[in-house]
Amino acid sequence: HGIGRRRLLAGLAGTAALAGAAGTAAWWRGASGARLIAPDGPVIGRVEATRRRPGAATVTAGLHPRPVTHDLGGPVVTTWGYADTGPGPLLRARAGDLLQVAVTNDLPVSTSVHWHGIALRNDMDGVPGLTQAPVRPGDTHRYEFTVPDPGTYFYHPHSGVQLDRALYGVLVVDDPHEPGDHDLEWIVVLDDWLDGTGRTPDEVLAGLRSMGGRMDGMSGMTMGGMEMFRSPLLGGAGDVSYPYHLVNGRVPDAPVTLTGRPGQRVRIRLVNAASDTAYRVALGGHRLTVTHTDGFPVVPAGTDALLLGMGERADLLVTLADGVFPLVAEAEGKTGQGRAVVRTAAGAPPPAGVRPAELDRTVLLPATLRTADAVALTGRPPDRVHRLTLGGGMMPYRWTINGVPHDHAEPLVVAHGERVRLEFVNTTTMFHPMHVHGHTFAVAGGGARKDTVVVTPGRTVAVDLDADNPGRWMTHCHNAYHAEAGMMVELAYR
Ligand code: C2O
Ligand code: CU
Repeated sequence: HGIGRRRLLAGLAGTAALAGAAGTAAWWRGASGARLIAPDGPVIGRVEATRRRPGAATVTAGLHPRPVTHDLGGPVVTTWGYADTGPGPLLRARAGDLLQVAVTNDLPVSTSVHWHGIALRNDMDGVPGLTQAPVRPGDTHRYEFTVPDPGTYFYHPHSGVQLDRALYGVLVVDDPHEPGDHDLEWIVVLDDWLDGTGRTPDEVLAGLRSMGGRMDGMSGMTMGGMEMFRSPLLGGAGDVSYPYHLVNGRVPDAPVTLTGRPGQRVRIRLVNAASDTAYRVALGGHRLTVTHTDGFPVVPAGTDALLLGMGERADLLVTLADGVFPLVAEAEGKTGQGRAVVRTAAGAPPPAGVRPAELDRTVLLPATLRTADAVALTGRPPDRVHRLTLGGGMMPYRWTINGVPHDHAEPLVVAHGERVRLEFVNTTTMFHPMHVHGHTFAVAGGGARKDTVVVTPGRTVAVDLDADNPGRWMTHCHNAYHAEAGMMVELAYR
């Protein structure tokens, strides 16, 4: 059943009507002693107030990052997580609601929570050193912000490569006006997994950086102890090999079962929470209709399979056939797959390792989807263009934007009210899912509204955004290892 709505509602601490408009600065400055670093607090407050829906609810929740032991469905691993098993708690609100989340850090290191894809107030964006102080061990940090746009989002730390543990969860923002033309909803979260199996993400990063770290489970081309995976579709698709690929926290030998009845229409909210792996996703015996990407509606597109980069989401509509089917997420350019079982009838589950033929038919990249008219950016030439040349490579392990790693980069300056074009120019042989915080961009030329877009090797992708959310915002590759090795830059309102 995936992560069901009922279970989620039970997981939320409760809701109450909200009286005031924007939250007070004093409230969030809580126990961790974080300070507002963003330059113009009053503007942020005004922008925040316009996002609140009349009659909005306040949704409260708690997150407890902590050391955990997870049973992945056979392998038992010691890791850091938000829950005792699988992804963190599902958070769910309606567009225009206020979300209050108290994060109590029981990890041995500092952490943070970033609300990926949400156009929120800058001081709640969860980037230590930019928008808040790190949440130290033992501290509680309170996040409070309005969720303006419906869609499928997720949350994760913005602290090193912590994302590559079990520190991620899904945030669904429902549309109070959407009829919902489906019978069922399944939430499907993909993840590449290595923590607790012999190396930690930090050790892998250190190994990549020192060029001495030897990876186990070799399945790609080896260069000086490093691995490079070649993807037929994308070129280099990732730097790290993983022993497991998980769907909703389970290895393929012990998959979750998603149950329905033949003929039912299912909305699948698909999230790629992996750090270093793009997935090619297909459901055996079914066509997929992509209705949304990164939360925003697109002109519905039928396909056999979908390629989802790290940080990307897609909502799919599927009409269920009669039988038992494999839902497979194949690691692009690597070996391994994650899977779930879709069941509408009795019968044996498909054997592990089965490859639906759909994986090799039409494979859609979300960047090529067309935006739904309702969420298209109004036609207007850009007031400002920033070109971001993506460079670097494996030897040495260093990833750059405009020739420099993050710690040497000048911010990309924008002004409130401008239409801004970002041109991502990929000069490398790897692909980079580029993500902008606090904004949703439109892929130039009528493409989808997104917050994360895969830029394939040798290609340029231009995106347009309205600079309507003042503050300091990270722009980076959502390969966690690339970002940590430099492929990150600040977008700053002047
Ligand atoms: Cu999910 Cu800065 O990213
Ligand atoms: Cu990258």
